[in-house]
Amino acid sequence: MKFFADTAEIADIAELAELGLVDGVTTNPSLILKSGRDILEVTREICAMIDGPVSAEVVSLKADEMIAEGRKLADIAANIAVKVPLTWDGLKACKVLSGDGFMVNVTLCFSANQALLAAKAGATFISPFIGRLDDINLDGMDLIADIRTIYDNYSFETQILAASARTVNHITQCALIGADVVTAPPSVMRKLADHPLTANGLDAFMKDWAKTGQKIL
Ligand code: E4P
Repeated sequence: MKFFADTAEIADIAELAELGLVDGVTTNPSLILKSGRDILEVTREICAMIDGPVSAEVVSLKADEMIAEGRKLADIAANIAVKVPLTWDGLKACKVLSGDGFMVNVTLCFSANQALLAAKAGATFISPFIGRLDDINLDGMDLIADIRTIYDNYSFETQILAASARTVNHITQCALIGADVVTAPPSVMRKLADHPLTANGLDAFMKDWAKTGQKIL
């Protein structure tokens, strides 16, 4: 399973990339706002740091304008994935932009039928939002599993990019179900390394080591 960093914060991406944890990056208008950066500048910087796909989202609602914005975003670098919303116009834009040869990430997916349409429209990635379904008492993981089954039934090549991952459990479940990619905020990715028994075990080792009076360096 590939890991994408769900952020537009350069420092976070750099730190995770040093560990080999960033196979790609996803951004959205809210993350651009949070970064306080200009979308074109920050996206260019991210694309230069990361070899994998970097999702940059269009902000128009009409297909023609989405296509124009998508082409401008795709001009930033060869590893841009143009992100379009899962609306009728977004699907039209997906079809045209994927036909142009660009990677397209169809975002804000909340149903298996939406995912089916995105695959038919030539999406490179479909982004089902797990956390936002959990927020309204639905099970985001059921959606990931349903899309996996449907895509496998018909050998669709669209990759399942599980988004809105809020907990380490979401990441485990995505890996078990077989999502192709999970995108998560850096704070969630860092938590993957945590375990109380690791912390307790290390604490005991450090105490015993101090008692030996030895040094390695
Ligand atoms: C995905 O591409 C989105 O940027 C993101 O995962 C949304 O997550 P949120 O629901 O936590 O805002």
